[in-house]
Amino acid sequence: MIRLDKYLADSGFGTRNEVRSLVKSGSVFVNEILIKDPGYKLNPDADEVSIKGRSVEYSEFEYYMLHKPAGVITASRDKNAKTVVDLIETRKRRDLFPIGRLDKDTEGLLIITNDGALSHRLLSPGSHVEKKYAAFVSGEIPDDIETHFQNGIDIGDEKLTLPAGLREITDIEQLLSEKNDSYIRERYTECISKIDSSENKIRIFEITLTEGRYHEIKRMFEALGGKVEYLKRYSMGPIELDHELSPGEYRKLNDEEMKNLLTSK
Ligand code: URA
Repeated sequence: MIRLDKYLADSGFGTRNEVRSLVKSGSVFVNEILIKDPGYKLNPDADEVSIKGRSVEYSEFEYYMLHKPAGVITASRDKNAKTVVDLIETRKRRDLFPIGRLDKDTEGLLIITNDGALSHRLLSPGSHVEKKYAAFVSGEIPDDIETHFQNGIDIGDEKLTLPAGLREITDIEQLLSEKNDSYIRERYTECISKIDSSENKIRIFEITLTEGRYHEIKRMFEALGGKVEYLKRYSMGPIELDHELSPGEYRKLNDEEMKNLLTSK
């Protein structure tokens, strides 16, 4: 059982104060009976709530996939900067947060929800959920870089990084066709024009991590003499970035994705 004011606030009808006024003004019906008490207790699974004849859909949890663009910070709210949650314009819940973080300049898949238990499960150190990224890397890196990633790298933390997968991708065409990502060629061109190409060459790698440390991929390459010029996340556990979403766009997770997410280990 939950209070009517919480039910309405959770469903996106305003702050607790705003929905209290709404209830007191005599606009809210529960099972077709006018209720003016904001503290009225109802069962969200069984009771029907309507406002001026329109029925209210209760959302206990919301789950979105966002194609995070560069320049937006991975946080719920911030006084000065635009956050990934600000991009979810159709959100109903006020308690959304991103699962894990991507750097301000990193693009790609981010799951945004208010399901704390799911977030805990995906992020807890023991769960080893796989995250796949593509990186454009400049600089001199050793030929046996794959072995370094596999064995763990000293990035200045107490412990080496956990074994990570590394696969070199021959060229941008291969990346484009593997990921079906129409934005990636543009990013690659931007990257090439940014570096001094007479000195430097950009190589493309797919990286698979099972942990998430601050700037982890950037620091892994840096420890080996490379520099990550661009980074994008393509998947997190069973969820893959929908290539139909442009950077900045989002959608709700569909039933199949939800099933995979909630039943994944
Ligand atoms: N590793 C990084 O360095 N940055 C990210 O945003 C994600 C992984």
